[in-house]
Amino acid sequence: MEKIVLPDIPNFDKIDTYLANGGFSAYRKALTQYPDDIIDQVKKSGLRGRGGAAFSAGLKWSFMPKTTDKPKYLCVNGDESEPGSFKDRQIFEYNPFQLIEGILITCYAIGAKTCYIYIRGEYHKWVKFMEKAVETAYEKGFVGEKMKEVFGGGFFCDIHVHKGAGAYICGEESSLMNSIEGKRPYPRVKPPFPAQNGLWGNPTTINNVETITNVPAIINKGWEWYASIGEPKHPGTILFGVSGHVNKPGVYELPSGTLLTDIIYSYAGGVPGNKKIKCVIPGGSSMPPLRGDQLEGVKMDAESLRMAGSAIGTGGIMVMDEDTDLVKVLARITKFYYHESCGQCTPCREGTGWMLKLLNRILRGEGSTKDVELLVSVANNIEGNTVCALGEAAAWPVKFMVTRFRDEFEARVKESAAREVVNKVHSMRRTVNPISPINI
Ligand SMILES: Cc1cc2nc3c(=O)[nH]c(=O)nc-3n(C[C@H](O)[C@H](O)[C@H](O)COP(=O)(O)O)c2cc1C
Ligand code: SF4
Repeated sequence: MEKIVLPDIPNFDKIDTYLANGGFSAYRKALTQYPDDIIDQVKKSGLRGRGGAAFSAGLKWSFMPKTTDKPKYLCVNGDESEPGSFKDRQIFEYNPFQLIEGILITCYAIGAKTCYIYIRGEYHKWVKFMEKAVETAYEKGFVGEKMKEVFGGGFFCDIHVHKGAGAYICGEESSLMNSIEGKRPYPRVKPPFPAQNGLWGNPTTINNVETITNVPAIINKGWEWYASIGEPKHPGTILFGVSGHVNKPGVYELPSGTLLTDIIYSYAGGVPGNKKIKCVIPGGSSMPPLRGDQLEGVKMDAESLRMAGSAIGTGGIMVMDEDTDLVKVLARITKFYYHESCGQCTPCREGTGWMLKLLNRILRGEGSTKDVELLVSVANNIEGNTVCALGEAAAWPVKFMVTRFRDEFEARVKESAAREVVNKVHSMRRTVNPISPINI
């Protein structure tokens, strides 16, 4: 199987190797066509965003206004802070020039003269890789004004690597733009969408690192070729980052629609000790988890996962074996979203805290059946009631973990209900009050 985003070519991160393997030929080809034709090809290729929502890349580009005096921008989202996601960093490290070429083609297609590659601040190593690559591209005249001499034509664009300060919320597109503008990274209310009102109020397109890195291959080999790879409704290859209880964790580039069980057992080497799988989160920690007995026949693409009751997200597959304490896992995931909530809207700010308190109570052995119900109720009240999708990111794991593994949560609270505890109020008298199970 041909790899598009992370090809097995040694030293592909070096400009000479990239050029020797056809580097920048896609951009040269793009320059011979009209920008709208490029957008049309990307639309027809079926390329969908790899940052979480799997939205059509070509369609998004087509929203950029054609006639405007305002400057247009491209933001490449490399914040990658979702637990279980670690694939964009591989591109920064092993294929930075294809990303740069993808940026040139995208900027040409949407008419942007400036691109920001936004990278989470803590990823020093990868910021350095990308800065170095952009510097090299400038030196060679592949980026910036010299592009006009090197490639011909009148088009040129600039690329800046922008470091975030390290917050999950900065990956949300409108938050990312506020961060670049030097503002507090609160997500903005949408509409208006970035294509109308983006960076400094100007038309802006935001795409994930992996999404943009696919573009040169589409232009070089044609949209028909790309559309024929993997699942027709979500074609191409996808970088699957496999972590947790597998023998060979790592990033695997495979055609969309590859069976989840093949990825876990064939590519990632199966589960240590041949243990059974209890739970898999297929797209990063914010996506609905699947039970071990729900995995058979599940294909890894947006539509198939939706049918299976989850979502593709960032393709970060988190595997948990039969010995995993899911109450603990959920408490840890919830702590993350509680910590990362920007606090702008009440359901997310308060709800994440309530869910964490409830989970901690259950973990301490002080929970009741009512708490299990309450968890789902709080999650339901967050979902759909917030400014940005961090609300869903926090609510989905709780809602689906509890409903799909209810037996585990109920067993845990029944354990605590059966335990005799010292009456806290009258503890001086050392009276013992058994907590009776609450039936609701
Ligand atoms: C809380 C939150 C965090 C996000 N973090 C990222 C991220 O780190 N990288 C990313 O590409 N998209 C992230 N997204 C999705 C972006 O808002 C946006 O949809 C995406 O960058 C668009 O690119 P794509 O269409 O190529 O997927 C996040 C969304 C939310 C709600
Ligand atoms: S959903 Fe959460 S992270 Fe998003 S704007 Fe509201 S408070 Fe902030």
